[in-house]
Amino acid sequence: MWHCTSCKSTCGADVPLPLETAEPYKRADLTPLHNPFPTTNRLNSQSLADQWFHTPSVKHTITVPATVVLGAQWGDEGKGKAIDQLAPQSTWAVRFQGGNNAGHTIVVGDTTLKLHQIPSGVTSRNCNLVLGDGMVIDPWVLDEELSRWEDLTGEKPEGERLFISERASVILPFHKYYDSADKVVGTTGRGIGPAYRDRIERVGIRFTDIEEVLSDSSIIEDTVLRMNKQLQTVGYDKEIQPSELSSQLQWILDRFGSAIKPTGLMVDLALRNGETVLLEGAQGALLDIDQGTYPFVTSSVVGRANATHGAGIHPGHITECFGITKAYCTRVGNGPFPSELSLEEGPGQHMAQVGHEFGTTTGRPRRTGWLDIIALKEAHRISGYSGLVVTKLDVLGGLDEIKICIGYELDGNPISHFPTRASDVERCIAVYETHPGFPALADEDWIDMAERSRKDGTGYDAMPGEVKNIVDRIEALSGIPVVSVGVGPDRRASIAKVGGPFDIVWDEATF
Ligand code: GDP
Ligand code: IMO
Ligand code: MG
Repeated sequence: MWHCTSCKSTCGADVPLPLETAEPYKRADLTPLHNPFPTTNRLNSQSLADQWFHTPSVKHTITVPATVVLGAQWGDEGKGKAIDQLAPQSTWAVRFQGGNNAGHTIVVGDTTLKLHQIPSGVTSRNCNLVLGDGMVIDPWVLDEELSRWEDLTGEKPEGERLFISERASVILPFHKYYDSADKVVGTTGRGIGPAYRDRIERVGIRFTDIEEVLSDSSIIEDTVLRMNKQLQTVGYDKEIQPSELSSQLQWILDRFGSAIKPTGLMVDLALRNGETVLLEGAQGALLDIDQGTYPFVTSSVVGRANATHGAGIHPGHITECFGITKAYCTRVGNGPFPSELSLEEGPGQHMAQVGHEFGTTTGRPRRTGWLDIIALKEAHRISGYSGLVVTKLDVLGGLDEIKICIGYELDGNPISHFPTRASDVERCIAVYETHPGFPALADEDWIDMAERSRKDGTGYDAMPGEVKNIVDRIEALSGIPVVSVGVGPDRRASIAKVGGPFDIVWDEATF
């Protein structure tokens, strides 16, 4: 029996477990009774837990709307733009893994937002934001991001509509010092791998742990001892002092205490109430720790299977899972890339220059190459996309011909899958099919085309024939329905499948 603190008068002091409803889920029944957001954030964790406990579970045979947006390549596919486009229809946007290695860009008119940890749904004021259980979070970077948002809009969302999971791990300066020793992977140097390593070793500090750690000087001393020993092993000459760690943790508590919540409960409760949740992926499928080009990968599971887990809800909630792919490929950092082109000349240079291919987080030049269907199918195998968003098709304008990698040759043998060993992938020679190119257009002309496609309801038919052919071919080769085509960085520069999930009308260019 659980003791109920919020409903004593109506349900008695003790509540039997489990509290499941036998009745089918009816949104209309539940909404007026349990629609606590955004006021829930002002409740304490106990009353939130009680409210969650008393809200009937949705029957598992009935799907409820959690939509996942994932990178289907090596990152930087345009996830931020897709989330920004979907957010007006959503009450929650949740980051579920990674940290500030991510850089998600949103362009609305003259304003460009680069977000590293704040979910890209921030642009819709009615969208609650969660930095979820599966994340590693740099509080100082979050502080900077929030200041930039406040400067731009005057809003302070933390504790009001932006919440940090109690279960998320803290990235400390130590993790960055340690990450700076990486010479192999070409990490972003943001401390992501070391923070996840601490979590796996079960010595990391989660946001929920901060208070406890601060109250016990022996934990602080042991932690600092361990950190300093590890820094020595990588030749880092700085020593961390216990007082330094204490004051850093105290600052985090002072700055973010009101925003640290049991966010899994909040998101689950929202779904029970018929609200809609966007799960925002970071990195891309080929950077996945288990399924990517190991060891040239990031430190978390980036696919659909971790989207709900890292948000603290169950996988049955997912209704849609969108894979985002560029019409070509890019990769930042080291590791194999079979369809890679030269950055010094030809189409690879064109992609880099026209597509402004520089890392959003580190500013490093991104490596470029033709679209790789084998890699895309690998991503689809892992995450099962219900729809594909093809971005940056505009960037290919002006090339004489456009190639798509449809297979590899490995040591003289044709193969049509992604080898497991990075050294094998490195030796793969891409096999291409070639399509006629199409003329370059100015950004404004692409936006006009996209606006026309919405206004006239023509969708993909608004595209010139040779542009549409590329989209049709990507759909046919990948076997994934294309739901939206990106033709520029701006929010409006997308041509959506008529009646599809991205067929949305924006009233004005605003946050
Ligand atoms: P994310 O990490 O997946 O969110 O992607 P990034 O923001 O790191 O990188 C994508 C870059 O491409 C950003 O600069 C976007 O503004 C830009 N972008 C997104 N979609 C399009 C598109 O359809 N066309 C063009 N030209 N740029 C795009
Ligand atoms: P978004 O979310 C592109 C790459 C790094 C490096 C490898 C490991 O913007 O798509 P890490 O710092 O994670 O340990 O680095 O992964 N990488 C990304 N590349 N976009 C990202 O995020 C990335 N996050 C990590 O360049 O090769
Ligand atoms: Mg990015």
